[in-house]
Amino acid sequence: MKKYFISFLLLFGLLNFANLSAQNSKPDINIIPQPKSINQQDGYFEINKQTKIYFSKGAETVARYLKDILEPATGYDFKFEELDNNLENNLKNNSIILKLSDSHPGLGNEGYTFTTTTNNLIIEANSLNGLFYGIQTLRQLLPVEIESKEKINSVIWKTPNVEINDKPEFSWRGLNLDCCRHFMSKDFIKRYIDLLAYHKMNVLHWHLTEDQAWRIEIKKYPELTSKGAFRTYDDGSVYGGFYTQDDIKEIVDYAASRFINVVPEIEMPGHSTAAISCYPEISCTGGPFDVGTLWGIYYDVYCAGNEKTFQFLQDVIDEVVELFPSKYIHIGGDEVPKNRWEKCPKCQARIKSENLKDEHELQSYFIKRMEKYINSKGKQIIGWDEILEGGLAPEATVQSWRGVKGAVDAAKQGHDVIVSPTSNCYFDYPVDITDLQKVYSFDPVPPELNAEERKHVLGSEGNMWTEYAPQELVDDRLFPRLLALSEVVWNYPAERNYEEFRKRVQNHYDRLNALNVNYGLETKPIEINKEYDSLNNNFNVKIRQLQNDLTLNLKSDEINHTILKDDSTNYIKVSYSDNLELSFTRNDKPVGKIFKEGFTFNKATRKPVNLTYPFSEKYSAGGVEALTDGLRGSDSFRGGDKSWQGYQGTDFEATLDFGNITDINKIAIGFFQASSSMVVYPEYVTFYTSTDGKIFIPVKNISNQSSLKNPDWVQKDFSVDLNNVKARYVKIFAKNLDELPKWHPAYGGKPWLMIDEIIVE
Ligand code: ACM
Ligand code: ZN
Repeated sequence: MKKYFISFLLLFGLLNFANLSAQNSKPDINIIPQPKSINQQDGYFEINKQTKIYFSKGAETVARYLKDILEPATGYDFKFEELDNNLENNLKNNSIILKLSDSHPGLGNEGYTFTTTTNNLIIEANSLNGLFYGIQTLRQLLPVEIESKEKINSVIWKTPNVEINDKPEFSWRGLNLDCCRHFMSKDFIKRYIDLLAYHKMNVLHWHLTEDQAWRIEIKKYPELTSKGAFRTYDDGSVYGGFYTQDDIKEIVDYAASRFINVVPEIEMPGHSTAAISCYPEISCTGGPFDVGTLWGIYYDVYCAGNEKTFQFLQDVIDEVVELFPSKYIHIGGDEVPKNRWEKCPKCQARIKSENLKDEHELQSYFIKRMEKYINSKGKQIIGWDEILEGGLAPEATVQSWRGVKGAVDAAKQGHDVIVSPTSNCYFDYPVDITDLQKVYSFDPVPPELNAEERKHVLGSEGNMWTEYAPQELVDDRLFPRLLALSEVVWNYPAERNYEEFRKRVQNHYDRLNALNVNYGLETKPIEINKEYDSLNNNFNVKIRQLQNDLTLNLKSDEINHTILKDDSTNYIKVSYSDNLELSFTRNDKPVGKIFKEGFTFNKATRKPVNLTYPFSEKYSAGGVEALTDGLRGSDSFRGGDKSWQGYQGTDFEATLDFGNITDINKIAIGFFQASSSMVVYPEYVTFYTSTDGKIFIPVKNISNQSSLKNPDWVQKDFSVDLNNVKARYVKIFAKNLDELPKWHPAYGGKPWLMIDEIIVE
C-alpha cells in the first residue's frame, strides 16, 4: 500500500504533504477527508458573476450538479457550455472547467486533480466520479456560506490557489443504515446520500429486513409490508413504515447521481421474525409470531428444511435484483440461533439428505444455495462473518464485524472482505467506548494479511444500528465519527496525526452546521466524581471536562450551588436532595445528550439494609450500601458509575433499620427496565413497616403497570405515600419474573431486577 502511494506521488510530481496549518500567510485549508496531496500557492481564484462553467462532452450531469451547488448562495446564473476542443481559449477566461481526460491513468476511477490559478479552476479526472469528488473538494475550499440555500451578498466566493492530486485508497467506503429498528424517511435517506457524497463515500448499505420490520415492498408477498412493516406495542400503539418499489427506485437513482452504490441487505436465515410473522409456514414451528418489539436475537428463523422457504426467498430476490443495479446483494447471515433447526424434522431431514455434519453446515448449505441463485442473476453476495462457519460460499464477500478475524480468514481463503469491526466501526456504540480518536486510529487492513491477501480488502463501513437511535438521533451517533472513517478509507494516512485531524474537525463543524447536521460528541465529555463528606453531610462533586471545546452548562433544582472552578474541573457541594443536569453547547448549539445526576438526602440515607437474597457480583454497585448511599442511578444500568445493583433470577427483599421509631410518610424504590437486555420491572412491590423487627405489616402492594414489550431503557420509582406511620423498620419485597415470557427473544431466560436506591421520607 505504502509503495503504491509513493509511486502515485511521483507520477504527478507532487511536492508536499499537506501540513497546511504550518504555512504562514496562506489561509488554512481544511478538507475532510484530507486529499492525498495539496500544494498551495499564493493567491486566489474568485468565482463571480462572469464565471463560466465548461465541461467535457459526457460530463454535463456533473457540471449541472456543480451549477446547482453554486447557484443558490451566489445567486449567479453561470454561463454553462460544453468544452470546445481548443482548451486554450477557455483557459484565458474566468472559468471553472470540468475536464474528462485519459492523461492521468494513475488517478483510477475515482481520483481527480484540482488546479486553481488566479484565472481558472480546472478539475480533471478519468471519470465522472473523479470530477464529482473534485466538486466536493471545491465545496470545502469555498467559504462555508456556499451551502446556503438563500442568496448571500456579503461573501467573496474565492478558493485559495492550489494544486491537489487526490484519489481514494479503498474502493468500498460505506455506511450501513439500519432502517428496520427505526424507520428513516425517504428524504432523510437522500440527505444521508448527500452527506456521504460530501465526504467522498460511495456505498450505502441499506439494512431492509429484520425481526422488528420488513421495509421493502415485494409485490408477490404484499403482507411483508402491509403487516410485516409494523409492530404493535402493548398499549396498542403501532410503529412502522416501508419503502414502495417506486421509493426505492427514486433513492437508488438519487444515490447514482451522487456516485453512491446502494447495497440492499435482505437478512437470512436469521433476523427474520417480521417475515415469518407474515408467512409462518416457512418457520420451523409454524408460529404464530408477532413482528418483534424488543431488540436482540430471536430464536425463530427461516426453516432450512422447507422448500417453500427457498421459493419465498428466490421470489424476493427476483424483485430485489430488478430494483438495485448493485453488483452485490447482502444476505446477512449473522446471529442465527440453531435451536429450532436442532428440533425441526424438516431441518434434520435436510441435514441427512445433504450429508451435512451439523446445523452450522446447514447454515452454510442455506447460504450457498441462495448464493447460487443470486449468482444466476448476475449478482454476488455479501454476508456477515458468520457465513464462514460451516464453510464459505464460493463467491461470497465477507463483512467482518466480530473483530477482524473473519476478514483475515476469508481473505486468506481468497475472498474479498469489508472490514467493519464493532471496536472501531459501530457508531451505535456510545462515544465513551468508541470515540473519534478510536475511529481515526482504525486500520482496515489487518496486519495478519500479506501483500497478496491485502488486495482482498475492499474497504470498510460504518454501521448505524438503530435500536437506540430513532431517526432524530442518527446525526448525533454518526457525526463527527463518520468524518474519521471517511478519512481512513479515502486517505488511509500512513501516519495518523490525530491532533492535526482534530483541528480540521473543529473547523468542519461550521460546515456541518451549514448542512444542518446535529452532530454529537467526540468523546466521553465529562468525568464525574462524587464523594460523600460525612463531617459536613454533603457530597463533593467534581466534574472534569474531557472535551474542552464545548461549553458545559449546569442546571439544577437547587439554585444555591457554589461552583468552584479550577481549569477543567468544576467543584460543586450538594447538601440537599437535587437533580443536576449537565449539558454541552458549541456557540449555543446543543451537542450530545444531557447527563443527569440525582442526589437524595432522606430518612433511609446511610441506614443499614439487610438483604434476604444476594445481589449479583457482576452488578454489585459496590455493595449493599449502594441502596441507601444517596446517589440516584444514571441513565445506563451498565454505566461506569456503577449505580445500579442487579439481582438475577431471584426476588428482592430488603429490611431497613432506622435505629428508633420514625415518622414515615413515603417509601420508594427505584428500578431500571431494559427489557431487551433481560432487565425488567418487578411484577409487584410490597411495602411493609414494623416497630419491633418481628411483625411486619404490609402497607401497600403496587403492581407493575408498564409494558415489558417496551424496548426503551426506562426508570421508575415504585412508591407509596403514608400518613405519619410510626415504625423502626421498613421492608420492601419486589417480585421478579420467574422467567422471560414466550414472546421475548431470550424466552425462558432468567430476568434481572436492577435497583438504585431506597428512599424513605
Ligand atoms: C451484526 O452486528 N449483527 C452484524
Ligand atoms: Zn426447520
